[in-house]
Amino acid sequence: MKVEALSLAQLRERSSEKWREYPEDVLPLFVAETDFPLAPAVTAALEDAVRRGDTGYVASRTPLAAAYAGFAQRRFGWSPDPTRMRSTADVSMGIVEILRRVIQPGERVVVNPPIYPPFFDLVDEAGGVVERVPLRDTGSGWELDLDAIGEALADGARAVLLCNPHNPTGAVPSAHSLDALARLAEEHGATVISDEIHAPLVQPGTGYTPFLASGDAARRIGYAVTSASKAFNLAGLKCALMVTASDPTTAVVRGLPVEVEWRTGQFGMLAAVAALSPESDEWLDGLLATLDENRRLVADLLARHLPEARYRIPDAGYLAWVDLTDLGWGPNPAKQILRQAKVALHFGPAFGAEGAGHVRINFGTSPEILTQAIERIARARATIDAAQR
Ligand SMILES: Cc1ncc(COP(=O)(O)O)c(C=O)c1O
Repeated sequence: MKVEALSLAQLRERSSEKWREYPEDVLPLFVAETDFPLAPAVTAALEDAVRRGDTGYVASRTPLAAAYAGFAQRRFGWSPDPTRMRSTADVSMGIVEILRRVIQPGERVVVNPPIYPPFFDLVDEAGGVVERVPLRDTGSGWELDLDAIGEALADGARAVLLCNPHNPTGAVPSAHSLDALARLAEEHGATVISDEIHAPLVQPGTGYTPFLASGDAARRIGYAVTSASKAFNLAGLKCALMVTASDPTTAVVRGLPVEVEWRTGQFGMLAAVAALSPESDEWLDGLLATLDENRRLVADLLARHLPEARYRIPDAGYLAWVDLTDLGWGPNPAKQILRQAKVALHFGPAFGAEGAGHVRINFGTSPEILTQAIERIARARATIDAAQR
């Protein structure tokens, strides 16, 4: 059963960033929120909590870690140990808190652009210095540049902030490359923090490997930070999990101040437990079916209306990374698209220098909104061309 997005009129009633940043004449396909109704088990859990007035602090013992372990077993065939996990407010906070403990101020942290823009800021917030090692474009996909990462680590970089699956490309690294990355890190005494927030959204048949499941080296030197928040659209509820798989890494996470865990949102925890429970599996399968259609619809719409656009259908998530260079709309095409077509896309250059000429389109919406958005851009083409001259 497919999960259908809400109508534009219903969505306009929402008050989150996606629906309030721009005026009503703009179609928003930028920030990573989705336009679907909540999964029924999530709605029920939140309604029950409201009825109980269950709005206090999150308890020190919750079913969240066990729920994630069950989810990982069912969806990825991996059995992380719930006693080696701790919750926090969001994935960003988990990354910063772990980074602070595994690097010294001023040490370098590898990121792989084009990359989710806050990665640059999170490294900075943790006192580190970003070392950019771009993804390698193989001509048919993207992969980690293990040689260049190895050089950076040999040259003193102390950690790798991995995005698995990758935002914005939707690329899913192979188990082999994850294991190779872990071995390199271990060889150089470095750490890997794997952001796995998009993992529940890997399309069936892709062959997803959680970093900590990729091998013994990964278990020894790796951390994963994850959340139900992208797949189930729960970002505002503030709940994420830091996951480890060895005694030393578990000790680092256990050593974080208790305040880090106290910042977990109570509603976020309750919603995540419902989202990760077997009861929500059918809903998630339905969402993946919808996203599968949408990722192909983006290809069809671009081929029909903007044939110069270059786009690879992503293996995970609801983000399309589109190269508009051949349209001649300059380094940041989303700016003119916003102004002339009234469609808000994420700015390519925010993802690093590799994002010049690119836009990121959020296709976690209805086919109607997606079609309208790309048709609007096509209709504005002449105006954008003129503005660009
Ligand atoms: C790769 C990645 N990491 C982290 C986040 C933010 O997660 P959180 O709101 O839990 O900090 C996002 C949001 O889109 C993301 O795409």
